[in-house]
Amino acid sequence: MVSSNARLPSAWTIADALKVHADDPTTTMPVIAQDFPVIDDALWQWDTGALRRITGETVTFKGWYVMWSLVAERAQTGDDAAGWHNRNAFAFIGYYYSRNGIDWTFGGRLLNTSADLRPDEWSGSLIMRHGSENVLDMFYTSVNTDMNQSMPSVSSGTIHADDSGVWFEGFTATTEMFSADGLHYANASQDPYFDFRDPHPFINPADGQVYCLFEGNVPGMRGDFVMTDREAGHLPPGYTVGEGAGYGAAAIGIARLVSSYAQGDFSRWEMLPALVTALGVNDQTERPHVVFANGLTYLFTISHHSTYTGGLAGPDGVYGFVSRHGIFGPYTPLNSSGLVLGNPSSAPYETYSHFVDPMGYVQSFIDTLPAPGTDPQAPATYRIGGTLAPTVRIALEDDRTFLTEVHDYGQIFAFDEWAASNQPDPRPAT
Ligand code: FRU
Repeated sequence: MVSSNARLPSAWTIADALKVHADDPTTTMPVIAQDFPVIDDALWQWDTGALRRITGETVTFKGWYVMWSLVAERAQTGDDAAGWHNRNAFAFIGYYYSRNGIDWTFGGRLLNTSADLRPDEWSGSLIMRHGSENVLDMFYTSVNTDMNQSMPSVSSGTIHADDSGVWFEGFTATTEMFSADGLHYANASQDPYFDFRDPHPFINPADGQVYCLFEGNVPGMRGDFVMTDREAGHLPPGYTVGEGAGYGAAAIGIARLVSSYAQGDFSRWEMLPALVTALGVNDQTERPHVVFANGLTYLFTISHHSTYTGGLAGPDGVYGFVSRHGIFGPYTPLNSSGLVLGNPSSAPYETYSHFVDPMGYVQSFIDTLPAPGTDPQAPATYRIGGTLAPTVRIALEDDRTFLTEVHDYGQIFAFDEWAASNQPDPRPAT
């Protein structure tokens, strides 16, 4: 295994990104029906995650499926397109519970407002503390409204349930985990558009230690990056790197927990060099997460069409990288290009914020769906989502992925259901 600190990030190269193509049926989300159902018509609902173990598997609690979602009150933002696009300034983490993983009841706020150090709560992970009956850690991003402060943070509490539903206690205080230091990851003074969020903790099977992935940017002054052969990759003859490539500086960040996980002390972390950078390719690699399967390490991240740089293009969706040597890489892009599941070009913004679980189920939210017959790139009319998309499943086969199943809107599958059913382990072999 490559040591965690003495290594360079793997590069998602310009040449790799030239292989990204929308509409390959094995890497494209199904077109969503115009009459999609809405899970919660009082709230906009977007980034979502199931209650999971720190080893990745989705779990139920006392027979209930549980998920957190970023939500905003439609009554507060406006129940229209402008309200939807303004939702981030009103975001908080809500939770939902369900008996069957399909029909969801809104439970309220997950964090007590006393936990809020800043006005907005953005994405993260809800994790059952390893070895405990009902202690949970909500990792999330504490953000101020103009986004110049963005801190991966954590609040802890307990989960409770009876026949009528699920509720939480605690979650009254927040610990800030780490901040953008300008050395390992760009900070606000280097890059006014810096991203530093979406904590995803996990136990690394190779060393048993707790690490956290997050969305970051390559450190350095925005726009000043010079592309080398490392970022370019194997470019075709005559290809010239497009103008503005240097504005793409996304990084999949990683830090190691130094304080005690068993004691729920998340205050001290060691910042490590990024796992993958997208210098010259794209400025955002969001909600990074990891799946250990087939003896390989799969790193997934979501990205936008609008954040590609230097004339490169690709659909909104989930991208991925695979390592044969554990979490510290080196990584190569899945499917050669990195694209795992993109939106179809007939509905280029239909879904976003995909999360791949260890069984290959992929959950996402509906953003906007162009009205039939309109130009999908600039639709005259479209339907706003603000609710969950159909869950799909992908197969992971070595360094390739394939779309294989489509399920219900917002459906969540739990690993413990299979564990209790005496059926073979549905996860790919590790
Ligand atoms: C992804 C994302 C996250 C962020 C959240 C804010 O959809 O951009 O990076 O935490 O949305 O809404």
